Amino acid sequence: MGKDTIEVIAAEAKQANMMDYEQARKEFDWSDVEKRFSWHETGKVNLAYEAIDRHATSELKDKIALHYSDPVRDESYTFEQLRRESNKAANMLRKLGIGKGDRVFIFMPRTPELYFILLGIIKIGAIAGPLFEAFMETAVRDRLQDSGAVAIVTTPKLVGRVPEAELPELKHIIVYGDEAELAEHHIHLGNAMAEASDEADIEWVDGEDGLILHYTSGSTGKPKGVYHVHRAMVQHEYTGRIVLDLQPDDIYWCTADPGWVTGTSYGIFAPWLNGATNVIRGGRFSPQDWYETIQRYKVTVWYSAPTAFRMLMGAGDEAVQQYDLSSLRHVLSVGEPLNPEVIRWGYRVYKQRIHDTWWMTETGAQLICNYPRMDIRPGSMGRPLPGIEAAILDDQGNVLPPLRMGNLAIKTPWPSIMRKIWNNPAKFEEYMRIDGWYISGDSAYMDEDGYFWFQGRIDDVINTSGERVGPFEVESKLVEHPAVAEAGVIGKPDPVRGEVIKAFISLREGYEPSDELKQDITRFVKEGLSAHAAPREIEFKDKLPKTRSGKIMRRVLKAWELELPTGDLSTLED
Ligand code: PRX
Repeated sequence: MGKDTIEVIAAEAKQANMMDYEQARKEFDWSDVEKRFSWHETGKVNLAYEAIDRHATSELKDKIALHYSDPVRDESYTFEQLRRESNKAANMLRKLGIGKGDRVFIFMPRTPELYFILLGIIKIGAIAGPLFEAFMETAVRDRLQDSGAVAIVTTPKLVGRVPEAELPELKHIIVYGDEAELAEHHIHLGNAMAEASDEADIEWVDGEDGLILHYTSGSTGKPKGVYHVHRAMVQHEYTGRIVLDLQPDDIYWCTADPGWVTGTSYGIFAPWLNGATNVIRGGRFSPQDWYETIQRYKVTVWYSAPTAFRMLMGAGDEAVQQYDLSSLRHVLSVGEPLNPEVIRWGYRVYKQRIHDTWWMTETGAQLICNYPRMDIRPGSMGRPLPGIEAAILDDQGNVLPPLRMGNLAIKTPWPSIMRKIWNNPAKFEEYMRIDGWYISGDSAYMDEDGYFWFQGRIDDVINTSGERVGPFEVESKLVEHPAVAEAGVIGKPDPVRGEVIKAFISLREGYEPSDELKQDITRFVKEGLSAHAAPREIEFKDKLPKTRSGKIMRRVLKAWELELPTGDLSTLED
């Protein structure tokens, strides 16, 4: 594309964090950021201390750290209160004999307790495993089994999806809710927290010790446990300052659930490491509730996702006009490609430039971004952070010149990069197959000014509403249905959700295609795996295209769907 065809929305002088990009890149050194934390002197550290306790012993002690609301609750907590509540959680876990390195899972809806517990887990040096509340039994079992979790904190409603009998390593089930609904061997969270002291010793750990395990999907195999360490806080703190642009008076709202990495790195760590007031909204999405949340708390910095912005756009300009959103001063997006049209719309109705940011579960924090002080090119993910070198590589690892499409790669290491895939060194090596580089699995190109443009996934991973779904996981569940012989799953382009899941299915003998059967199969996946992994579309086929080795060729399914040429079919079965 020619330079003069690139649309630009210029940075505005009102943005607080003005700094020259090239200059910042030249002068940047991660060790300067490291010096902001106490381990610089002691060699030991704890992210929960840096995010909460450090502020609770400073002039920020009585500052609101958390505004929480949902349809029934409405609460606020200061840094000091968060310190005490997370100490109680830490003590409760310690009393059960849980300690450094143990995996403790959280499987509950967003409530203040979720945040106390997550911080408590980190305070004792244990490794947190947050799960999305929509997960069903198979999804929960796979993650707990793989990680060897010793404890899970959940609710009476969700505990039925924790298959205890298949989890020999799971010793403690802590339930948050009505005591009457508990089984005898369950621990009641409310009582246990009430008995626990609100003073606790921090477990001082090494920067390279485990912090959190986020399970995410690839195109093959079961979900993989992406393992992050305490040192990641260096990048959380830095990007909170430079990309989120957090200032002392900001009211910050990240709409993501902690079951996904955005909900922890940017829903918990980055804002609190920066001492910001963090808004958490429970309950379901609705444009009215969301705008109400911004109006009510006077949110200044807002981090959300393209699907949400597209839904808000769909709700229309009138919905915006019913609320006072004038507090907003910085808006960001992550998770999927952000359409230029959405940026233009946001600029018109919110009077805000929506800043796209690119990163992944595996990268732990933002890497390529539109900074507050940068001109935005709608459709581009932005430019690499100071301290980050990104490039487009061919399959042999050669760096390609501008405008050539290839593998989006990042020079290793950086502070928040995953340290391993739990139990699966071979998977980890796949990302590191080209010496000195992390291969993201995304394809992109760089323009002549160093802006990166996302083109797609190189593998078959589906991105629906910003959530990553592995086709293999869905296919495996589908073939458990009595009517399904074989299944192939692809992402089908969708104007609101980015992609939706479409399943091609061949039926077993004795079953006939019908709408009822489609519904039944969809329900089966919803109830067995999770709602977001269930196909929105099913198409029955007599036969699915397969390689001679029996692998279903999703590439061909996709070509059918998009009415594209099917490409090289030399490996097709017949
Ligand atoms: O394909 C890219 C897409 O989401 C993938 C990472 O998904 P996940 O690990 O769930 O993390 C999402 C939040 C960090 C990437 O490989 N993706 C993420 N951000 C963008 C994006 N695609 C286009 N533009 C983005 N800004």
